[in-house]
Amino acid sequence: MLKTEYVTMNEASPDPEVIRRAGQIIKEGGLVAFPTETVYGLGGDALNPASSRKIYAAKGRPSDNPLIVHVCRLEDIELIVSEIPPEAEKLAEAFWPGPLTMIFKKSDLVPKETTGGLDTVAVRFPSNRIAQALIDASGGFIAAPSANRSGRPSPTVAKYCMEDLDGRVEMIIDGGEVGIGLESTIIDLTEGSPVILRPGFVNRKMLEEVLGNVEVDSTLITPDSGIAPKAPGMKYRHYAPRGELVIIEGERDKVVEEVNKAAARNAELGLKTGVICTDETEELYRADSVKSAGRRSDELSVARSLFRILREFDDEQVDRIYSESFGGGNLGRAIMNRLMKAAGHRLVHLGRGEKLQD
Ligand code: TXA
Ligand code: MG
Repeated sequence: MLKTEYVTMNEASPDPEVIRRAGQIIKEGGLVAFPTETVYGLGGDALNPASSRKIYAAKGRPSDNPLIVHVCRLEDIELIVSEIPPEAEKLAEAFWPGPLTMIFKKSDLVPKETTGGLDTVAVRFPSNRIAQALIDASGGFIAAPSANRSGRPSPTVAKYCMEDLDGRVEMIIDGGEVGIGLESTIIDLTEGSPVILRPGFVNRKMLEEVLGNVEVDSTLITPDSGIAPKAPGMKYRHYAPRGELVIIEGERDKVVEEVNKAAARNAELGLKTGVICTDETEELYRADSVKSAGRRSDELSVARSLFRILREFDDEQVDRIYSESFGGGNLGRAIMNRLMKAAGHRLVHLGRGEKLQD
């Protein structure tokens, strides 16, 4: 077991001496968890196969699930990709640094250990200044999945990195709560027309404004289909809380009424009920643990809270969780995508006169 050093840093003024030391750890093949604008990352040297193997081991993640390579200068991507399609230049101009990951054909410099055996590489230029400084100090290329143990929600605060990775990484840099709370949008540029493999803050409409038509990986739309998703990570069970999570869709008062009845039935069975709702409805629910994810009108607040709430229900040992559904707005699709994965795609639509079954 490693001794994990925990350091706190302000994004406005990253401490150069600590960053230098953290960069040294990565250059020497060690691991550092660090903040980005989306979620915390678990970083190692992307060009060192041994580092990538360590990342998989620390996360408890299958090694066929490729890692994202983080850069801190646009020109550096020329070293790790073999071809830069014109779409990439337009997207970089519009969204980098920021929460967008692009898939390219890889160059020989990137080991297969980092790409899970694929000939393509995922690249992201984060906007968080601590992340940028760390990438620079580490030699320019950090492979970083989200800094959670495999299957758990991605960490939005450093405390959760500590929970999952204490003793498994050399250092954790606490840079406060992240701004977005959901992982980056992933777009594949290696197959003719651009395809979204994972929805995120940069949504389809924003991408289409830059590129024209953009497809969405069909396995994201019909997740139960037999086809394997193109982002290998999307096939794994994710974020799942220990309690059984169901998303309840329908007219607001109906949802509240049925969830409250279900909570009462659960109580009779000795089961603890959790509810994921919004500020607008929080007062209406009667259950053991009612958590507002934020204002429905402020999707970013919902995005930022979702993973934290899933973890809190684990801590509280809630048995059954009911969540309101989200969607429609700019981030709605990304929020719903993560929620559906957490729920194992259990969604109930309550029509007129319909009741929630046990
Ligand atoms: O916001 C983010 O992207 C965060 C922060 C730390 O940057 N990182 C993150 O990494 O979410 P991770 O490893 O949890 O998710 C990476 C996803 C996985 O679903 C993986 O399968 C997919 O990206 N991916 C990586 N390389 C790929 C490739 N070459 N082709 C297709 N999908 C790829
Ligand atoms: Mg992840």
